[in-house]
Amino acid sequence: MPELAKNLKPLLSAQQIQQRIQELAHEIRRDYAEKHPVLVGVLKGAFMFLADLVRELRFPLQCDFLKISSYGQQTESSGQISLQLDTTIPLTGRHVLVVEDIVDTGLTTAWLLEHLQKKSPASLRVCALLDKPARRRVEVPLDYVGFRIPNRFVVGYGIDCAEAYRELDYIGYLADQEENS
Ligand code: IMP
Repeated sequence: MPELAKNLKPLLSAQQIQQRIQELAHEIRRDYAEKHPVLVGVLKGAFMFLADLVRELRFPLQCDFLKISSYGQQTESSGQISLQLDTTIPLTGRHVLVVEDIVDTGLTTAWLLEHLQKKSPASLRVCALLDKPARRRVEVPLDYVGFRIPNRFVVGYGIDCAEAYRELDYIGYLADQEENS
């Protein structure tokens, strides 16, 4: 285990994550296999999840990316969302599946859905690897969810704390973080 990960408590193992991705891929394949969807990964946190998910889907699709910023170097959402990179594939009339790392307050997802809806997709749904419902401030429809997790600040598997820990193949939480409400 890398030195950097010493202060992490494991939450989801690489094996648990990969197993769940296979199950999600099964559901998504059932709903989208004939629809040639566009999967929109939300950078940076969803890059690893999107890469593993599309490899399990095994049907024709397109990938695009959005980059938004809301946290900066903090572990609390600032609530201030800014778009740093927009999608480039025309989404009008397309079946769009947003792929997110984690939904916490829901503010980011709500903002993204409003933003993407303006591009007139045929359908718009959300797939989130992690759902942290304890601090939800706005209700957002999550169509596919990997894991429902407690209110901890988690890192790993693409998810960072001040840009660290993204490279881990598992998800853990910072050992010095008490569960906050
Ligand atoms: P929300 O707007 O509060 O739902 O936050 C969504 C975004 O905040 C996620 O896409 C993550 O980038 C970030 N985030 C929320 N919770 C965590 C966490 O526990 N660890 C790392 N990033 C998080």
